[in-house]
Amino acid sequence: MRLYHGSSKGFTAHIGLCLTDDSAAAWEYAVRSGRPGTLTTVELSTFGLKIAKGRDFGEGSGDACGDTPAEIKRLRRRGVDVVEYMDEAPGGMRHRTWRLLSRKALASLAAA
Ligand SMILES: NC(=O)c1ccc[n+]([C@@H]2O[C@H](COP(=O)([O-])OP(=O)(O)OC[C@H]3O[C@@H](n4cnc5c(N)ncnc54)[C@H](O)[C@@H]3O)[C@@H](O)[C@H]2O)c1
Repeated sequence: MRLYHGSSKGFTAHIGLCLTDDSAAAWEYAVRSGRPGTLTTVELSTFGLKIAKGRDFGEGSGDACGDTPAEIKRLRRRGVDVVEYMDEAPGGMRHRTWRLLSRKALASLAAA
């Protein structure tokens, strides 16, 4: 699956990394600080990964989206590698996010 990450700080594959399939939304994250940004394109092989549905942007309840260390720990205890949810970029674009929670998920990333 082709995914994108926008950043003004360069790209590092780390636990908690957020990716989207919408390159325009990723670009909104890249330029959010007003500094020049970068758009990184990757391939995520989802084979063998446990992907859970997370809480969508603006939703008050339901499963968490892994945006705190405690939530990541809880999801990892359930064996979740990736959490997927609907998100909102800084400019208001709605898009889908995949947040990588495990080393296995990071090892499934390749440059595109
Ligand atoms: N940037 C994107 O392309 C993108 C894509 C989809 C969703 N999002 C959304 O944007 C929000 C912010 O994500 P972000 O990645 O743009 O912001 P960010 O750079 O602030 O990183 C988010 C989290 O990852 C941690 N982090 C960042 N770099 C790290 C590193 N090198 N090593 C270890 N930890 C590191 C930060 O401490 C922070 O807790 C997310 O909650 C997500 O919902 C962003």
